[in-house]
Amino acid sequence: MIHPEREYMHLNNQTRRQFLAGVGAAGSLLFASGLSTAEAAKPSGPILLEAMPGKANLLDTVKNQTSIWGYDGMVPGRLIRARQGGEVWVRIKNSLPQPTTIHWHGIRIDNAMDGVAGLTQEPVPPGETFDYRFKVPDAGTYWYHPHNLSWEQVARGLYGALIVEEPDAPDVDQDIIAIIDDWRLGEDGAIDEKSFGSIREKAHAGRLGNILSVNGKPMGQFQVRSGERIRLRLINTCNARILKLRFEELTPKVIALDGQPVPSYELDHGLVTIAPAQRVDLLIDMTGAPGITQAITEVSQSRLVAATLNYSQQPALQARTSPLELPGNGLKNPAITSARKVDLIMSGGAMGQADKMTYKGKSYDLRQLVHEHGQVWAFNGNAGMPETPLFSARTGESIAVRMVNETRWPHAMHFHGHHFKEARQGAPWRDTLLMNASETRTVYLHADNPGKWMIHCHMLEHQAGGMGTWFEVNA
Ligand code: C2O
Ligand code: CU
Repeated sequence: MIHPEREYMHLNNQTRRQFLAGVGAAGSLLFASGLSTAEAAKPSGPILLEAMPGKANLLDTVKNQTSIWGYDGMVPGRLIRARQGGEVWVRIKNSLPQPTTIHWHGIRIDNAMDGVAGLTQEPVPPGETFDYRFKVPDAGTYWYHPHNLSWEQVARGLYGALIVEEPDAPDVDQDIIAIIDDWRLGEDGAIDEKSFGSIREKAHAGRLGNILSVNGKPMGQFQVRSGERIRLRLINTCNARILKLRFEELTPKVIALDGQPVPSYELDHGLVTIAPAQRVDLLIDMTGAPGITQAITEVSQSRLVAATLNYSQQPALQARTSPLELPGNGLKNPAITSARKVDLIMSGGAMGQADKMTYKGKSYDLRQLVHEHGQVWAFNGNAGMPETPLFSARTGESIAVRMVNETRWPHAMHFHGHHFKEARQGAPWRDTLLMNASETRTVYLHADNPGKWMIHCHMLEHQAGGMGTWFEVNA
C-alpha cells in the first residue's frame, strides 16, 4: 500500500521541479484561469452538463493520464457565471455508471434544487437528465458537486466553480479562480480505487491524496503584471485535506469567505487555511518586479508549489492604494440572545470515546456497527441520516447550534441553504466551519429558507461514515 505521506512529497516534488524548470507564458485572461466558461444568463435554454468519464493530465505526463469522471469529461467542469439575482439553468445528463445529482454549494437556493439525494430529490439514474433552475441571491464564490456517493464522485473529479458577479464589478485587473484538489494516484496515474469507502479512511482524517492539482493541472500558472491588483478565488474541493497556502513575498488580504464579503484583513504570516468545501477570496497587489516568478506553496503536509505567479516583462503599473471592500449581500442577522438552542454532539472515529451508537433506529456497539454498516461517527449518538430532523424551525426563527467536537479529529461542518455566524463581534458569515479536535463552537442562523436542509461534515469520508443530519424550516 502506498503511504500517503511519502507519496505526497515524492510524486509531487518530482512533478513540481520539472514544472518549475519550464515555467512559460500561460495565458490567464480576466476570469480565464484556464477554465472553460458557461454563461448562466442565457435566456434561450439550459446549459448542458454531461457527467461522464474523461481524462486528465494530473501528473503532467501524457503517458500517465488519469481516467477521471468530470462534467463534460473535464476536471474541473465548466465555470458557471451568473449575475447576482439572476438565474442559473443547468441540465445535467448522467453518463456515469452510478446515479448522481448536483449540489450548488453555498447557494441559498430553492430547496427543490439543492441536489441532496434522498432528501431533496431522487438521484438521477444513468442515462437520464435533470434540470436545475434557480435564482442566485448572493454574489460571491461558490461551487458545484454531486451529492450522491460524493466521497467517490467528487474524488473522481466531478466539481466546478459557480461565480455570482456583483452588480458593479470590483476594481481589479484580473479575477482568477484556483480550484484546488488532491488526488490519490498510483505511479501509473490511475486513481487508487481500493481506498474508496475504506473504513480506515473513514475513521481517520478522510481520504487524503498524494497529488495536488489546481484547475485540473499539476500546478496553477497565472500570468500577472507588476503593479496590478488581482482577486484570487480559492476553492478547496479536496475530499478531506485542510489546505494551508503560503504566500511568501506578497501581502494578500481576505475579502470574502464562503462567498460572503468580510471587512478586508491581512493574512497572518501570509498563510491561509481552507477546509474542504470552503472558499477564500483574496485581494493581492502584485508587488514583484517585471519578469520574476513568485510561488504559492501548499504546506499542510509537505511543501509543494501549488501555483506560480508569472510576471510579464511589461513595466509596472501604478499600484492601487485604495482599499477594496466588496458590497455585502444583505443577509439577515440571527437574533443572538433569543435564539433557540440546539446541541449537536459529534462523536466517534479513531481513538474516540464512543462505544454505542444508534443507526436506523437500532442500537449497536461501535465495533459491530463499523463491521456491519461501515458507520463510525455520530451526531447526538446517531450514525447516518436520522429519521427525524435535528430541529424544525419556523421561518424567521433564529437557531443557535452548539457543536461539540468530542472526537480527536477536525471536521468541516457544513449547513445547507443558509449561512451562519458565531456570536463574537465581527464574526464572518460561513457555510462551512472548520472545527478542531475537542472544540465547542456555537453558530447562529436565521432560518428563512423553507425546506429540508442537510448538516454534515464535508470531509466526505466522515459524511459517508455517519456524520450527517438535517433540519427543516417550515414555510
Ligand atoms: Cu458541498 Cu452537502 O455539500
Ligand atoms: Cu469530519
